[in-house]
Amino acid sequence: TQKIIIDTDPGQDDAVAILLALASPEIEVLGLTAVAGNVPLTLTELNTRKICELAGRPDLAVHAGCDAPLSRRLITAEHVHGQTGLDGIDLPAPGMALRPQHGVDFIIETLRGEAPGTVTLVPIGPLTNIASAIARAPDIIPRIQRIVLMGGAYFEVGNVTPAAEFNIFVDPEAAQQVFQAGIPLVMMPLDVTHEAMTSRVWVEAMRALPNRCGPAVASWTDFFERYDREKYGSQGAPLHDPCAIAWLLRPDLFQGRQINVEIETEGRFTTGMTVADWWRVTDRPANALFIRHVDRDGLFDLLTERIARLP
Ligand code: BDR
Ligand code: CA
Repeated sequence: TQKIIIDTDPGQDDAVAILLALASPEIEVLGLTAVAGNVPLTLTELNTRKICELAGRPDLAVHAGCDAPLSRRLITAEHVHGQTGLDGIDLPAPGMALRPQHGVDFIIETLRGEAPGTVTLVPIGPLTNIASAIARAPDIIPRIQRIVLMGGAYFEVGNVTPAAEFNIFVDPEAAQQVFQAGIPLVMMPLDVTHEAMTSRVWVEAMRALPNRCGPAVASWTDFFERYDREKYGSQGAPLHDPCAIAWLLRPDLFQGRQINVEIETEGRFTTGMTVADWWRVTDRPANALFIRHVDRDGLFDLLTERIARLP
């Protein structure tokens, strides 16, 4: 099995990503760390616990991490995800407690405790917790197997500014530290996640599942879709974050290139841009597998089959 830590800011698409991981026997979730992003930390950690309980996993370790970016004011996305961050369905207050340890310390301690090269980090929110962990404990860097993250955009440009994707834009300094750390990186930019659009047929199939998680996914997707429909006139909701988990399960569904990606931290118009050398026009060394396409049907079949296994 593949051991992972999920670093998250739920977020309806984060929720689907977490459910996909918890439904998959190939993956062992060592713990989840919440970060401020789509909504403030008090809500992202609460939402993470609600999702674990929905999946029937109150035993999981959920830790709260950083409540603000490294050096900027927090920008949130209630306009996309609703006031709770997880609008669409009312989940009960979780019975499971938040673990007292700070999320950054949990990441450091877990990486030090497990065999080197056996733990993958899956950040699906701003990279503040991950950057804080590697800055505070550089000895963990060679112990990280790889980082599979959702963030960035290049050909598909931005969703929060014309040049930047939300997760990178919220904390570009953190992203820069992570991209420059020499850790093997796989990135799921908007280029691929905008291919991961839900269809009406798929949402209704989720709603019809004879469990509680399927209908929850349908309700979240309905809410999340509203924003994209009003904003872009598009059909369906992009399931950004589940792409990161899906890559661990079925890398054959994805296509990308090993290239150099730099993070713009000082641009007048382009702060948070992931400058991707797709055509290899510089001699800057490759530091990321930039994923550009996904087999959409394969992805949604995988999601259906896995969500059906949950309570
Ligand atoms: C990313 O930002 C958040 O709104 C989503 O959860 C996803 O992680 C997409 O830009
Ligand atoms: Ca997210």
